[in-house]
Amino acid sequence: MKIGIDKIGFYTPHLYVDMNELAVARDVEPEKFTIGIGQDEMAIAPITQDPVTLAANAALNILDEEDVSKIDFVMFGTETGIDHSKSAGVYVHHLLGLNPSARTIELKQACYGATAAIQLAKGHIALNPESKVLVLASDIARYGLQTPGEVTQGAGAVALIISADPKIMVLENEQAYVTKDIMDFWRPTYSDIAFVDGKFSNDQYLAFFNTVWAQYKEKANKNIEDFAAICYHLPYTKMGLKALRTILEEGEERTQERLQENFQLSTKYSRKVGNIYTASLYLGLLSLLEMNENLQAGERIGLFSYGSGAVGEFFSGVLQPNYRDYLIVEKHQELFANRKRVTVAEYEEIFTESLPTDGSTVEFETVNDPAAICLTGITEHMRQYLNKSEHSE
Ligand code: COA
Repeated sequence: MKIGIDKIGFYTPHLYVDMNELAVARDVEPEKFTIGIGQDEMAIAPITQDPVTLAANAALNILDEEDVSKIDFVMFGTETGIDHSKSAGVYVHHLLGLNPSARTIELKQACYGATAAIQLAKGHIALNPESKVLVLASDIARYGLQTPGEVTQGAGAVALIISADPKIMVLENEQAYVTKDIMDFWRPTYSDIAFVDGKFSNDQYLAFFNTVWAQYKEKANKNIEDFAAICYHLPYTKMGLKALRTILEEGEERTQERLQENFQLSTKYSRKVGNIYTASLYLGLLSLLEMNENLQAGERIGLFSYGSGAVGEFFSGVLQPNYRDYLIVEKHQELFANRKRVTVAEYEEIFTESLPTDGSTVEFETVNDPAAICLTGITEHMRQYLNKSEHSE
């Protein structure tokens, strides 16, 4: 049975800061951010967007009535959990009006959570070929103002429908994965910003990639020539490039050029959004599919997922006939075109705004947030959400 990605949608908040401006404000050469790190713009989440709304907005763009009735498993990968107990997916299930006969859970393993969800979804579809699974990857990356990691923040979500006979990409069954207990990046439950040993995390990312790549080649009996492109988890785009460079020489010159060109295309969206943790790999895949009009059905794409702490996985997918017809390129271009640039001072103000933690009631004005689904406030420790598209009908 063929199982894989049937639809893919993306959402990022309407605000961003320019990396050149941030560099000037931080007294750093702009090229360090735009070339050394490889980021041009960084998405900022207003107080009216949280991981739930980002995910719901990403999914809203792709769901039709058939999806709504057939989805019987919702998996929400995130490392920006809003509750120790209740899954963020349950809120999204409600906001999207999904079929009540469904399972809904949240998965956590740093930036790897959504990959785990996709692999579990494959098992579910294998047993229930008529079902569809909604996989949500949604995060707001926060390292703190004036920290080395500040330039690698971001906000956004990717929603994927996993089904039998998928229209976009069949996921192949060979996978290689590895787990090792390391402290390269973590966020204790009492902290809203991450702790990170940046250089160590870079080294571990590369070590994990090389381990799973070697394992994958042996298990799958494939080599670099078998790939049209390889997409990477992109905490910042230079990180993926570093990983690609470690294996390029395994390929012929033509292959090296192809992989490098496709890598650049896979980073286009990420350069404008920043790190979105669980969704970063899938934003890279989306960027590649939407930016490269020449990829052919039958071509294979490699995917490297890395979640600090740490778990790494390499797997692959094969493009399906007419896959481009099922992408929503224009919607995503519109999303980027309608964003608003904020100054560094405005970004800092938005960044430091926080939700009450003492049970007090707060209400937010959502007229300035163009998103269909917004956080409207908190009442008695309960987040309140609004789906404007329902109310306008
Ligand atoms: N022009 C071009 N490149 C420049 C430059 C300039 N003027 N100034 C510096 N650079 C380059 C550096 O040479 C370096 O490139 P390299 O990594 O290829 O050697 C890059 O910019 C970053 O500079 P560096 O001094 O290493 O940055 P930093 O100490 O400020 O921290 C991170 C970088 C990634 C460690 C930091 O942003 C971080 O901790 N991020 C969060 C953790 C993370 O994302 N980990 C990834 C794995 S999950």
